[in-house]
Amino acid sequence: MTTASKVSSSDLAKGTFVIRDVGSDEHGGAIVADTATAVIMVDFRAMNKLPEFKLERFFGEWEFRARYLLSPSDCESMSVAELLALADEDGARRWRELRLGYTESQGDPTLRAAISEGYTTISAQDVLVAVPEEAIFVAMQALLSPGQHVITVHPAYQSLYEVARAIGCQVSAWPIRPMPGGAGWSFDLDELAALIQPETRLLVLNFPHNPTGYLPDRATLDQILNLAGRYGLTVFSDEMYRGLELDPAARLPAVCDLYENSVSLSGLSKAYGLPGLRLGWLAGRLPDFVTAALKIKDFTTICHSGPSEVLGLIGLRAGERLLARNLALVMRNAGLAAAYFARHPDLFTWYAPQAGSIAFPAWLGPGSVEALCQAALAQVGLMVVPGSIFDYAGPHFRVGLGRENFPVALALLERVVARVIVSS
Ligand SMILES: Cc1ncc(COP(=O)(O)O)c(C=O)c1O
Repeated sequence: MTTASKVSSSDLAKGTFVIRDVGSDEHGGAIVADTATAVIMVDFRAMNKLPEFKLERFFGEWEFRARYLLSPSDCESMSVAELLALADEDGARRWRELRLGYTESQGDPTLRAAISEGYTTISAQDVLVAVPEEAIFVAMQALLSPGQHVITVHPAYQSLYEVARAIGCQVSAWPIRPMPGGAGWSFDLDELAALIQPETRLLVLNFPHNPTGYLPDRATLDQILNLAGRYGLTVFSDEMYRGLELDPAARLPAVCDLYENSVSLSGLSKAYGLPGLRLGWLAGRLPDFVTAALKIKDFTTICHSGPSEVLGLIGLRAGERLLARNLALVMRNAGLAAAYFARHPDLFTWYAPQAGSIAFPAWLGPGSVEALCQAALAQVGLMVVPGSIFDYAGPHFRVGLGRENFPVALALLERVVARVIVSS
């Protein structure tokens, strides 16, 4: 305990704890009220501080200042009016009659029932509605304790491993590797097996994978889950990009439908193009998981936003149309990207994505990929995310394939590259 402060027993009885003279340091900590001694103690060692979320800070700085984005991960959004035009009668009525009170902590029952229809083994009771990013935080807090070991795919969306680290877990990266000549990406199952320890509690997957657009085939996913099963690992499966498979036949079942000891994350931000709704969900049959997660959610948002739940229900019911529209955009843009990068094999290696709205090509031209990204921002106001934002050492950068104006962003990249070549 770093420091302590006396409070009167009447304060304690009334529950009006006043913390006086508490020291502070950069790590924050847990506040413990000891009723026997009437002392409030602050244990500053109890929690590790979360570091900066590099990708979110980068977007925080540039997303609304850059003129064009080459690297967004979401698909083209739509107006509320456009979404409402897709509503069925029940959805339109819910929107008209919506009252702006608090909502059910676990999520609106009708919404949860609609979500559960996207799975084969999940019922409305197995679903918890939350903001996608919040859902990662809540799930990790519910599943993990300090001292446990976690394995995550890498590179990855940072919170998929950073929250575990802040809880006090040891985290090992399971690296995805580029195949020679831009043939794609692969994970090595022997490497995964070698990472498993007696303390390993959780395996974190993310298929379709951000930032590469990699998608394993069904046999590979089964092998991964067999390995997890053999060692009793819980699996957290981030499926935010599911539904955008370039070959629709390659769509994988949700992990929560294949493997009981798991939780799947999904939401409307990426494949459905509705990130402003901030609507996602956790789905899983793990006993007591939803109860444990709800206790954590009481410390984050408590319950979801009512307008978001109704608009989300409308979006889900129109889901096939939204996915078809966005997949068409991704396919058009992936074609344009492939053609551009193929014209410059000395400057780029293109790794065609299999699913999702992102790809992770490599820069082979003069200077570093960071310098290319800086030049893009400075010269034409184009935001490009370098691989280093994902703690990835190779010369890769992320390309977002889900937006209408991708051809303009690509043309701007071409212009910047031409200048970099001339000045090198
Ligand atoms: C793999 C992955 N999971 C979760 C999220 C979080 O989604 P949201 O921004 O909608 O909270 C993202 C966002 O980029 C992501 O890429």
